Amino acid sequence: MNNERKILIVDDDTSILRSYQKFLESEGYRVFVARDGREGFIAVEHEHPDLILLDINMPVKTGLELLEDLKRTFDKLPLTIMMTAYGDLDAAVRAMNLGAYDFLTKPVGLEKLCFTVRRALETISLAEKAAYFIDQDETPYRDTIVGRDALMVDIYKTISSLNGNRATVLVYGESGTGKEMVARAIHENTSPKEPFVAINCAAVPSNLIESELMGHVKGAFTGAVASQTGKLEAVRGGTLVLDEISEMPLEMQTKLLRVIQEKKFYPVGSTEQKQFNGRIVAITNKNLTELIETGRFRQDLFYRLNVISIKVPPLRDHLSDLKMLVVHLIKKANFVEKTSIESITQEALDFLGSYSWPGNIRELENAILNASVNAKDKVLTRDSFAFLVPGGVANTAQTCTEAPKFEDFSHGELLTLHEFEKRYIEHVLKKLNWHKGRTAEVLGITRPTLDKRIEEYGLTKND
Ligand SMILES: Nc1ncnc2c1ncn2[C@@H]1O[C@H](COP(=O)(O)OP(=O)(O)OP(=O)(O)O)[C@@H](O)[C@H]1O
Ligand SMILES: [Mg+2]
Repeated sequence: MNNERKILIVDDDTSILRSYQKFLESEGYRVFVARDGREGFIAVEHEHPDLILLDINMPVKTGLELLEDLKRTFDKLPLTIMMTAYGDLDAAVRAMNLGAYDFLTKPVGLEKLCFTVRRALETISLAEKAAYFIDQDETPYRDTIVGRDALMVDIYKTISSLNGNRATVLVYGESGTGKEMVARAIHENTSPKEPFVAINCAAVPSNLIESELMGHVKGAFTGAVASQTGKLEAVRGGTLVLDEISEMPLEMQTKLLRVIQEKKFYPVGSTEQKQFNGRIVAITNKNLTELIETGRFRQDLFYRLNVISIKVPPLRDHLSDLKMLVVHLIKKANFVEKTSIESITQEALDFLGSYSWPGNIRELENAILNASVNAKDKVLTRDSFAFLVPGGVANTAQTCTEAPKFEDFSHGELLTLHEFEKRYIEHVLKKLNWHKGRTAEVLGITRPTLDKRIEEYGLTKND
């Protein structure tokens, strides 16, 4: 079958051209080569390749220029996979914007090349079929950001602009949208060789957070039996992620502000000043501006953190990525849970597209995992997602936000926000049978935050 497929390789590096050509021919493809964008254009006109492997940096005419020409000349851009040098995310993103199908970072191993080519060509042959097939290739699953919606491309652009500086970044968005993934992508694109250190401000007890961050010396406080290096030091020139920054105690916010301003700090109980050399990425799913108004977050810290901000969109705002995400997450389930799903029906995809996804990509991931593990054969159908039908999380979320249904305020007492929060959390917990995962999703908070609130408000199942 392969020999009907024509591949054009455009690269000015003759040794790459030759080795790819030889390899792809041995896989049964018909291969043409060109040494720059101009030759490439002529080859496209004459040979009508099914797929182009296109280098970006070439003399005479670059890969991006060739893409632009092809776009201008032909109605439909041939399937194009860009080959970029390491760190050239910006050019890759521009190529994706022009309509390239995918990009590979050089050096590209032959196995990876073959897998990507095969997967790309399959998308053409399967495009009109009812089911969408999942690649069963042995290529290891890679936990990477997926998405090509304009909103996601904007994020990639911001990330690539961070190269070469240590600016603080604030990543915000609803629960489960991929904020942590964005933080990792920032790290991998700016300081991949340095440590990646994360701390969840909601999960660390408030009396320990200072020593977690700054470190402490032996005997600094009861229980400090040995000295400990803080995360600010351990991160060296890497990325320090402060997840759920809204939960950082006010006192610690003041100290953090000082670290950001002065790039220096003292471990608890120490007089030896240390230097902070890393980049801070703060993550939140709360509206910090509102917290500032109620005095729960320092405005000056907010300004310091918000030097560059990245909004990670809710899934319902980039549904054009749904299919890609579904395929990626099925592969992930196959890899992590050793399931062997081969395809998903169009009907199931349509249904997933009509769902509201209040828990965003995390909820989609859980749904796919659930469906894959319980599937009787290797196909996911509309029925595999029966647990998402009305009455599921999405619907519950809607009912829950209609406040009068759980407390009628018109007759009742007036509540403090604190009391209101307590009662509302309790209400949602009861309504969802104390399923904490779902409750956190509906409330738009993480599990650690929910656990913290449950403890704080003394909520118990039997109340
Ligand atoms: N764009 C994406 N492509 C692929 N997987 C994604 C993407 N975004 C999120 N995921 C997956 O969804 C799950 C949730 O993502 P992540 O933990 O980054 O979300 P979050 O915004 O930090 O959530 P929370 O606010 O609950 O902490 C993870 O398993 C992650 O791998
Ligand atoms: Mg997170």
